[in-house]
Amino acid sequence: LTRKPREIHFSLIGCGNIGSATLRYVNERAGYIETGMGYRLIPEKVYDIDSGSLEFLGELENIRPKIASSVEEVIDDPKTKIIIEATGQDGPARDYIMESFGKGKSVVTPNKLVIAKYMRELFDEARSCGQELGFESSVMAGVPVINNLRGNTDIINKYLAILNGTSNLILTHIPERGYDGALKYARSIGAAEPDASSDTSGRDTANKNKILAALSYGADIDYDTMTSPLFLEGIENITDLDIEFAGEFGYKIKLLGKSRMHKDGRLEIGTFPYLLNSSHILANVDGTNNAIYIDFESKGPELHYGEGAGPMPTRAGVVEDVIQTARKMRGGEVDIPSIWGGIELVDPSELKYPFYLRFSCFDKPGVSGKITTVLGDHEVSIASHVQKKELAEEESVPICMLTYEANVGKIKHAVNYIDETLKGNITTGDTVAIRVENG
Ligand SMILES: NC(=O)c1ccc[n+]([C@@H]2O[C@H](COP(=O)([O-])OP(=O)(O)OC[C@H]3O[C@@H](n4cnc5c(N)ncnc54)[C@H](OP(=O)(O)O)[C@@H]3O)[C@@H](O)[C@H]2O)c1
Repeated sequence: LTRKPREIHFSLIGCGNIGSATLRYVNERAGYIETGMGYRLIPEKVYDIDSGSLEFLGELENIRPKIASSVEEVIDDPKTKIIIEATGQDGPARDYIMESFGKGKSVVTPNKLVIAKYMRELFDEARSCGQELGFESSVMAGVPVINNLRGNTDIINKYLAILNGTSNLILTHIPERGYDGALKYARSIGAAEPDASSDTSGRDTANKNKILAALSYGADIDYDTMTSPLFLEGIENITDLDIEFAGEFGYKIKLLGKSRMHKDGRLEIGTFPYLLNSSHILANVDGTNNAIYIDFESKGPELHYGEGAGPMPTRAGVVEDVIQTARKMRGGEVDIPSIWGGIELVDPSELKYPFYLRFSCFDKPGVSGKITTVLGDHEVSIASHVQKKELAEEESVPICMLTYEANVGKIKHAVNYIDETLKGNITTGDTVAIRVENG
């Protein structure tokens, strides 16, 4: 029995890496999607601010979208039911999505920036216009995390996630190349933009962390809070020495988006580099791979792992999201997540973590004692301690310490005190302080 395919008329705004890859994918996979899934994907209009990026359209044998001369022409197109927004912009993308809802179109976007920044108003507008918003590929590209969380009924106790392939690749290659060499390598293989600051600063991870927290707890966390230094640190200060010392202590260093629901109903959230025990399931997620470890109350732990970026995985995620969105629209009920602002966040400086501390010290007697005295004055006790004279650079010797669990605020005070008062006499440079995640 053959079934008549259901037609999905969609259009695209922004035809760079992801937009063009998505159209190529539809061109290649149209036959399977129609016979295997029963959907005929029909691209109607395509618009890009740079008309040069649309030249490839002539190469596509199976689809013939029309080139629009303006965004309005796409949004007003009467045949289009779903718009893919893939411009990578924030403000303009928000406007396009809001206007699309107003014109009775649903939207699919891989744009984490626009979702993280304008989530609440986009969700509200979609709901009030009776439209869907698919954003599966905004986090971990083709790995199905977002729609999994959108369908989840269980309590989420916590999650730990590697969400940025560029920074994970850099961390993987720091031991043999150093930080600058690893960044250069990432650029040379197309895994880092010329300006990789949103990856290395952790901002991209924080954006995705905000999206995950909204779906996990209904939390509407203020964007500026999420990306403020209290809640976010990047990987720019991590060196090959840190990765080597961490390894000696039995750990690897990973940039993680983390959240944990505390028993008192307050949410711990943050984006920081952490030392992770080498036996942790996320510790060996290397290169450009992403992974999220979610601890559910009833379902138990769950792991999603895979390529978290790149046109190939993202294009498949976008197309699957288009089909998912069409299915929901056909069912006649919009299914926009509910978020609210009522969740209180734990002040990160109140939390307790063991810390890895690396001091650059003068090679003279009594140096370690002076540092441990300052740490002791701040109620920070040392669990292990390594000094490597053979790694001395000029007059500076690295000394690393693993602390017992200590108050984050007190650690920060101790480190600031050491950097302000002991530099030039006991230490030769700034201290590196990294949380240890044992969960
Ligand atoms: N690349 C990945 O691996 C990946 C993975 C997951 C998610 N994403 C997300 O996917 C989105 C697209 O990424 P991409 O890598 O495809 O970026 P991209 O290559 O820069 O493509 C964006 C395209 O949109 C065009 N554009 C910019 N502003 C526009 C506007 N106002 N109206 C119409 N077109 C406009 C750009 O033109 P100009 O070049 O002239 O500015 C460019 O051709 C981003 O939100 C990104 O975060 C990307």
